[in-house]
Amino acid sequence: MITVSHVSVAYGDEAALQDVSLEVGRGATCAIIGASGCGKTTLLYALAGLIQPAAGRISIDGKPLERVRARTSLILQDYGLLPWKTARDNLAFPLRSRGMTAADSRALADRTLQSLGILDQADKFPGALSGGQRQRVAIGRALVLEPDLLLMDEASSALDAITREHIQKLVLQIWQQNQPSLLLVTHSIEEALFLGQTVLVMGRGRIAATIANPWFGQETAADPAGRALLAQTIRRQLHEAD
Ligand SMILES: Nc1ncnc2c1ncn2[C@@H]1O[C@H](COP(=O)(O)OP(=O)(O)OP(=O)(O)O)[C@@H](O)[C@H]1O
Ligand SMILES: [Mg+2]
Repeated sequence: MITVSHVSVAYGDEAALQDVSLEVGRGATCAIIGASGCGKTTLLYALAGLIQPAAGRISIDGKPLERVRARTSLILQDYGLLPWKTARDNLAFPLRSRGMTAADSRALADRTLQSLGILDQADKFPGALSGGQRQRVAIGRALVLEPDLLLMDEASSALDAITREHIQKLVLQIWQQNQPSLLLVTHSIEEALFLGQTVLVMGRGRIAATIANPWFGQETAADPAGRALLAQTIRRQLHEAD
């Protein structure tokens, strides 16, 4: 269980989060949606232990979060790949840093790239990969560390519609296989409805609404009208929160 209680974060005297509280069950998924600048990335950074809240507490499985956890993986908005390392080495590097041998880390990197369908790209540097391939490498790098908490910041917003759908399905599949808790930031209502069991609508520095989503994981909704209605509600709340 991830518990955020009354968390505030400020950059200098600019408040980025104010009195934010939320709970995400172990192995549950939560999509966070909100206008640019409302504090979504800041919330993920705080959950990753990268920034300390000025007030409030975050705990994971009952333990107060005081530093970066080994089993939390964060996929950044710009993917955060190391440009001077190949796709394979982007995956192998964090394993090497944790003491795995060169041969083992290479083998695990290759297995992961294979499962993501990009083993043929292993020797390329990030600059030579397409956006979708880069996204897969970033997901692979997060996965090799076997996270129990996966934080994704706008995983697919820079991708074309087809690639985005592939990535969304891939994320769902990964979640089904490994059951990490998953918090994902998105600008897309469709993506939020596909990947979030709960959808959090953020307004400036705060959570404006928490919505249970019965259409989680459904490519074609059993009740399209009901799904469209929920999308409409979220759209309205986004406007009201802004
Ligand atoms: N390092 C920083 N120093 C100062 N202000 C910052 C810093 N990072 C973020 N901010 C400010 O904090 C607020 C929240 O930023 P944040 O990056 O969390 O927004 P966001 O919801 O992720 O936006 P976007 O959708 O554009 O990625 C913004 O007003 C931003 O300008
Ligand atoms: Mg952001």
